[in-house]
Amino acid sequence: MFHQKLDSFPTDFLWGSASAAYQVEGAWNTDGKGASIWDNYVKIPGTTFKGSNGDVAVDHYHRYREDVALMAEQGLKAYRFSVAWTRILPQGKGEINQDGLDFYNDLIDELLKHGIEPIVTIYHWDLPQALQDEYGGWESRHIIEDFTAYARILFEAFGDRVKHWVSLNEQNVFIMHGYMMASHPPAVSDPKRMYQANHMANLANASVIKAFRDGGYSGKIGPSFAYSPSYAIDANPLNVVAHENMSDFSANFWMDVYVYGRYPRVMINNLTKMDVMPDIHKGDLDLLKAGKPDFMGLNYYQSMTVASNPLNGVSMGGEANYTGEKGSTQESGMPGLFKIVENPNLEKTNWDWTIDHEGLRICLRRISSRYDLPILITENGLGEFDTLEEDGSVHDQARITYLNNHCLAIQEAISDGVDVIGYCTWSFTDLLSWLNGYQKRYGFVYVDRDEVNQKDLTRYKKDSFYWYQKVITSNGQSLTD
Ligand code: BG6
Repeated sequence: MFHQKLDSFPTDFLWGSASAAYQVEGAWNTDGKGASIWDNYVKIPGTTFKGSNGDVAVDHYHRYREDVALMAEQGLKAYRFSVAWTRILPQGKGEINQDGLDFYNDLIDELLKHGIEPIVTIYHWDLPQALQDEYGGWESRHIIEDFTAYARILFEAFGDRVKHWVSLNEQNVFIMHGYMMASHPPAVSDPKRMYQANHMANLANASVIKAFRDGGYSGKIGPSFAYSPSYAIDANPLNVVAHENMSDFSANFWMDVYVYGRYPRVMINNLTKMDVMPDIHKGDLDLLKAGKPDFMGLNYYQSMTVASNPLNGVSMGGEANYTGEKGSTQESGMPGLFKIVENPNLEKTNWDWTIDHEGLRICLRRISSRYDLPILITENGLGEFDTLEEDGSVHDQARITYLNNHCLAIQEAISDGVDVIGYCTWSFTDLLSWLNGYQKRYGFVYVDRDEVNQKDLTRYKKDSFYWYQKVITSNGQSLTD
């Protein structure tokens, strides 16, 4: 679809940026905070790049005022952050830690003082260790009640000021990595357990959305989904079937449940044959249906191109690139369904992620057509090496080009007719990139630290900081300058 002239961004468009508690806060055991599964997992040798962890991260817990002042200087309209469950409930349930509530209350007030709208993610992967130990975390039905009780505390405490809530961040990622690839806690590799945990997460997500509605809180709520749209490598119908397989297994399987409260037929058929279909109890589907989101949160980084993969073909076990050594990712796929192949049309980052701004427009179009919901882009960004110059500048032109192209793709999608309500880049400051350490940087603000040396954590504005400032002030007009 080509347009004579692109539509403008809506005047109330939420130009934002995002982070997650474990990746920025640090202060992992300060002021009564309990341990999460990530606090402990990263300390097992060999789990993360150079043994990096978020014990201190970029110390946002102590420096949030300085960070919010930088956001205000940039002109951010929205800041998406997550609440660390164990700051509020150190044991995951039971007694509330007032210091935890105070921290987020102060952060929210500081943002609002500067005219920045807080977007709160309820869960960004840092499950209380106590719940993992007590009943296996996401594998148990108990999680539904505990997650809902925790969310209610947040709605009560912050609901007067927070108008956009993200229920679960990237359920597809924390479930796949936690229970299939064994690269996130609890580091399990068992499809049966994975689909069971995923069903519990679906129910917990729906239960929280239902609780939000039942509580009569004002505002909107939805999950954030990590969507890497798939393309067939060519028009060979077998490869197009591979693309259909990937769409069902990697996208529809999650988003259909969020919106329609049911699993896609092809998935039910396949999971039943594989003997990994989760136990669905009476009443589960009613709960799922009651949890329809107000918007779809979209985390978009890259597209995936696929080809046919026989039953004895490649599987998910291939080495991933967590080092920044370009080209080190090994082939992977799901036997009998699809395998990921190179797309000759696309460049890649040093971490082998494809760079594909048109893919964002494709995501927006597909979500809009299939679900007819407003879309909040909750993450998008470029993870790359950055160099701090002697004069304190950081010339991150590759990030500017990446983000500028992606913003234009959003404008194209808006002109196509998609309802996009906001855009949060990943991330505002540099932060811990879970398995990739600190050298894979995403921020507008450089934070001076590395994996082994936490240095003084001084903040430096990168060139992209000023680029986004112009985009926000001009409401997107500067994208075509
Ligand atoms: C998303 C997560 O998967 O992508 C973020 O929600 C994460 O927490 C981001 O940091 C980028 O991924 P990575 O692995 O490069 O840090």
